[in-house]
Amino acid sequence: MYRQRDGAGEWGSMAAGFKGNYIRAIGILLLLAAAGRALAQEVQAENVTVVEGGVAEINCKFRQNEGSTVVIQNPHRQTLFFNRDRALKDDRFQLEEFTQKQVKIRVSNVTLEDEGGYFCQLYMEDTHHQIATLTVLVPPDNPLVEIKEQAVEGHEVELNCIAPRTKPAATLRWSRDRRELKGISNKQESGKTFSVTNTVKFSVDRKDNGAIITCEATHPALKGQKKQTQYVLDVQYSPTVKIQPSQGVLREGDGLTLTCGVTGNPLPSKIIWSRLNETLSDRVEIHGDTLNIPSLSMLDNGTYICSTSNKHGRASDQYVLVVYDPGAIIEAHTSVPYAIIGGILAILVFLVICVLIIMVWCSVRQKGSYLTHEASGLDEHGEAREAFLNGGDSHKRKEEFFI
Ligand SMILES: *[C@@H]1O[C@H](CO)[C@@H](O)[C@H](O)[C@H]1NC(C)=O
Ligand SMILES: *[C@@H]1O[C@H](CO)[C@@H](O)[C@H](O)[C@H]1NC(C)=O
Ligand SMILES: *[C@@H]1O[C@H](CO)[C@@H](O)[C@H](O)[C@H]1NC(C)=O
Ligand SMILES: *[C@@H]1O[C@H](CO)[C@@H](O)[C@H](O)[C@H]1NC(C)=O
Repeated sequence: MYRQRDGAGEWGSMAAGFKGNYIRAIGILLLLAAAGRALAQEVQAENVTVVEGGVAEINCKFRQNEGSTVVIQNPHRQTLFFNRDRALKDDRFQLEEFTQKQVKIRVSNVTLEDEGGYFCQLYMEDTHHQIATLTVLVPPDNPLVEIKEQAVEGHEVELNCIAPRTKPAATLRWSRDRRELKGISNKQESGKTFSVTNTVKFSVDRKDNGAIITCEATHPALKGQKKQTQYVLDVQYSPTVKIQPSQGVLREGDGLTLTCGVTGNPLPSKIIWSRLNETLSDRVEIHGDTLNIPSLSMLDNGTYICSTSNKHGRASDQYVLVVYDPGAIIEAHTSVPYAIIGGILAILVFLVICVLIIMVWCSVRQKGSYLTHEASGLDEHGEAREAFLNGGDSHKRKEEFFI
């Protein structure tokens, strides 16, 4: 562009090159001068970082300050101290030390407005000054957790973790059971501080009710420590219902209590008992989740229903009541479960079969020995016969026992 405007082609570029070198040379000279000055610096000041509300010390060091005047100014260039005298009426600024070599001032209850460059000025034949930069950090408190809408089973929940005022911006993380939940971070600047938000979304079901979700904030001013807030998920869901009877087999005259076990969030407050196709008899006593029939009659046969609802749905369970005649079934009297009776019967049958097999086997064997011994004599004949008869007896006994 320069060349085009100049129109002088090579001459223009040569002139530019020369000018560039010249500027560079001046720059180097200035740098050297600055370095020389630094070596012989009359005033030195250290930068300070402090947490809001804390105490900052501003330190000005002098190479020599005999008989010279020291002036310390705040970032607005208002004079805080003129030598030993406080110029600004603010108790938060105190002179800690005033010597030939250094002047130290103490600022308590530091606010963000105190941030900036503090001028340490030394008036000799020349004036010298250095700037101590005060940086104020604002660490986060325990973050705030907000839920966008009431969590409902089968829906997505949106949780916001907020650190409303930090400097520099805090980092927020969500976790559940020590596993990180990926969220979306967003920061907004307001003045010198940042408001940071981390948003997570996930879908929930009834198992998530009561789960603990943690949001933690990290920040340079916390020095590795964390500020955290735990949030207990409150997930609403439709109810479930289960009827639990007080006993199994029921005869006329027995008492019966049905208990209706209900879950749901919010927990349904109203439980409705009814009877399929019929009305509940006057003898039925209802107390919330229990239905009681003090003395059953055959007329109580039927299907009993417990139902309930909350704003997310309704649920019901049925119980079929069968009332037996006390004389009709004896087994029910013993109250021994049928499975056990069946088992005992099976064992008995098995034993009988075993005995039968053994008897048959013995009789065959005895017959055989009787036949082989026949030739040797008649002595053992009677014994074998007896054994056979005994076997026959025991067989008969078993049968009797079985019957
Ligand atoms: C002090 O802070 C200022 C501004 O942030 C910076 O320019 C300067 O280099 C710092 N001085 C020292 C000694 O760190
Ligand atoms: C600093 O703050 C505390 C509490 O906020 C207060 O009691 C104290 O007087 C303050 N100090 C100065 C010097 O303002
Ligand atoms: C109840 O009534 C309905 C019709 O209203 C019928 O279909 C059903 O079989 C009845 N149930 C019983 C157990 O009587
Ligand atoms: C009740 O049920 C039992 C078993 O099914 C039956 O024996 C009895 O007759 C029934 N009683 C009435 C009144 O329905």
